Amino acid sequence: MLAGEDSPAAAKLLELLVALGEVFGAERLVTVESAHISGVSYKNLGEAGLEWLEEQADLGARARIRATLNPAGMDMDLWREMGVPEEFAEGQRRVIEAFEMMDVEPTCTCTPYLIGHIPKFGSQVAWAESSAVCFSNSVLGARTNRESGPTTIASAVTGLAALYGYRLDENRRPGVIVDVEEVLMTTMDYSALGYITGRRLGTTVPYFRRLGRPSLEALKALGAACATSGGIALWHGEGVTPEAGVMEEHLAGLEKIVVGRGDIEEAAAWLTRPLNDPVTVLGCPHSTLGELREIAGLVKGGDLEGSLWVFTSRGVYAEAVEAGYVGVIEEAGGRVYRDTCMVVAPVREMGWREVATNSFKAAHYMANMGLETRIGTIRELLSEVPG
Ligand code: F3S
Repeated sequence: MLAGEDSPAAAKLLELLVALGEVFGAERLVTVESAHISGVSYKNLGEAGLEWLEEQADLGARARIRATLNPAGMDMDLWREMGVPEEFAEGQRRVIEAFEMMDVEPTCTCTPYLIGHIPKFGSQVAWAESSAVCFSNSVLGARTNRESGPTTIASAVTGLAALYGYRLDENRRPGVIVDVEEVLMTTMDYSALGYITGRRLGTTVPYFRRLGRPSLEALKALGAACATSGGIALWHGEGVTPEAGVMEEHLAGLEKIVVGRGDIEEAAAWLTRPLNDPVTVLGCPHSTLGELREIAGLVKGGDLEGSLWVFTSRGVYAEAVEAGYVGVIEEAGGRVYRDTCMVVAPVREMGWREVATNSFKAAHYMANMGLETRIGTIRELLSEVPG
């Protein structure tokens, strides 16, 4: 492959993986079963990134394993309705075309595990998108590092990754015990716990105790927030995650921290300002069918006048249309978009200044983008819907 027998692109991309392996002291490459590729929004890529992707496609880069895509900067059909500028849409279309030429599935979601891309326990994969990495490593027990756009493309094309980091048993051990003091109730509570943990631990692997019985939504929220305020790529939850049991023997002597209700309230206050006319944004990470059901139940018969935007994947959207949830949300004046999210869409160009959300990850990035934010539970944020 290095000699260019597959394609000139495969040779260059393999060189990248080998160089990375050398930097991290990897002994060898391993085969990976699937890739999830980030760096899809034209907002982040710009012209230089787009040209690099088109060059790879022209040089023969083709995925040899299953490869899915992270969100783009717009709903690929409803971008005009979103208010996305024409020039941006043209760039975004070219990005998706380049990936399609590389035989990558244009899933455009950060929750590939909700639409059938579910790595097996113990399998080696190459995933980017920090929230999906956390879910894959922690909840599914697959093995990936926090990959980047270029390295996931390299792994998709070569079927390989360098063997280092979270691919090795010794690096999957916990470094700190996090004791949860009170019963966590809402998805927002778990998002707060993740945000607090990431801030305190940086990249150390946490071992959570007393997590309760987190829902699927709570599991995705916890990992997404851990990976936002810190660089956490893997967490264990006693009685919750598949590797937690075998990690018990490594707990002796570890530092312990405690997170309680006061910490959660304090964390929400960091990202909460008084707002006048916010857009309520839900679906970070992309909504599950259960979240769309809950939102539909809360807004039914209301009059939102476009002040609620919900983001999800195409697969979940189709199920939610079938179940009638999308119809209920839209009849109440809310919007449901696919392929994109509040962080990777050009929301400032779309005129947004204030947002309310239940996701610490979304609030963190939107605050960094200069927007005013508010954190609340889905129920709190939708409780004042006129109707
Ligand atoms: Fe997904 Fe966008 Fe949040 S990519 S995790 S919805 S910031």
